[in-house]
Amino acid sequence: MMQAPKSSSTANLSPETVVVAAGRPPREPDAPVNPPIVLSSTFHGAGVPAPDERVYGRFSNPTWDPFETALSELEGAALPGLVFSSGLAAVASALSLIPTGGILVMPRHSYQGSLLLAAGEADNGRFTVRTVDIADTEQVIAALQGSGAESGAARPADMLWIESPTNPMLEVAEIEVLTHAAHDIGALVVADNTFSTPLVTRPLELGADVVLHSVTKYLAGHSDVVLGALVTSDGELRGRLHSYRSLHGAIAGPFEVWLALRGLRTLALRVERSQATAALLAQRLLDHPAVEAVRYPGLPGDAGHERAAKQMEGFGSILCIEVAGGAAAAEAVAENVRLWLPATSLGGVESLIERRRRQPGEPASVPGNLLRLSVGIEHAEDLWADLTQALAR
Ligand SMILES: Cc1ncc(COP(=O)(O)O)c(C=O)c1O
Repeated sequence: MMQAPKSSSTANLSPETVVVAAGRPPREPDAPVNPPIVLSSTFHGAGVPAPDERVYGRFSNPTWDPFETALSELEGAALPGLVFSSGLAAVASALSLIPTGGILVMPRHSYQGSLLLAAGEADNGRFTVRTVDIADTEQVIAALQGSGAESGAARPADMLWIESPTNPMLEVAEIEVLTHAAHDIGALVVADNTFSTPLVTRPLELGADVVLHSVTKYLAGHSDVVLGALVTSDGELRGRLHSYRSLHGAIAGPFEVWLALRGLRTLALRVERSQATAALLAQRLLDHPAVEAVRYPGLPGDAGHERAAKQMEGFGSILCIEVAGGAAAAEAVAENVRLWLPATSLGGVESLIERRRRQPGEPASVPGNLLRLSVGIEHAEDLWADLTQALAR
């Protein structure tokens, strides 16, 4: 239901407190301190439903509200967020904002599912996709304006998709400059904030219209749910996204959302710890003889470092390495770790490692020997020891 987060008791608190305090039930005698899980597919009602009436479980569920409120407070939005059945369901909903025949500008190294979904829409003739190096601001602006466009005619774009840092290349976009350029030509800006979390980057404050999350990752944080979310301060956009969610049935189960809120309570601690460990590992890996390159925006020599330092609070908990000896050597590292888990995904308490090109859908411009490391909250020295024994083999 539409509760204005601004009036909530967490206004003016720091994000580390908001993750703990947001979305609590009212302070009444004997009231629970945690919101309950509401398992009901329908809600009492008669007569013509009021606009904010729950009515039916595909339109709304009380278990979603506290999570949606907490997320909106963290992202600095004026309206509650919208939780979806997965990150990709949120991506589909956001892409539905592009008019038929429109143009989408998207990072060539976006999450592969987002790229595949957009490419599928393009194949069906719904819209055109212009892929760009999101770190190359001039190139993105040219693509937005339509210079050198595919049809010859200089048609401006309808939507700019931002992922920063990108998955898995960790390129950093100049978010504020790009959102201004997009708005100058009337394009909407959607920012996938999964890698950063709102504790590290707040794209709405940098001008984005909609923020997207794979809640599956850091927000829920325990690799036990698949969920997504969108957040916007624009009532008209929120209405369209909400309507998409209801009509496509892209809704989350109440239990999963309850778990996500439970996970969110420790987000600040998890991010603090995993970012510190990622920075330490990145620095050490720079000097490792079996590592050809390290990608981490926190490294002073990284191409995105200066930009990241300006617009992020910290540099995130994902780093990538390119292993000497090619794809087979990189695959062997993923097979030989004992503590790190060889698995896809990221953002959980446990550290994960994956050679991204093992996935058939991964763009060919991602090096075959690139390993993506999602740093968890284990002790840094245990992670380092395991990684170095695997690299030494
Ligand atoms: C950056 C990013 N966005 C979106 C998604 C899709 O989210 P989900 O897997 O929850 O559908 C992912 C999944 O890996 C992701 O990494």
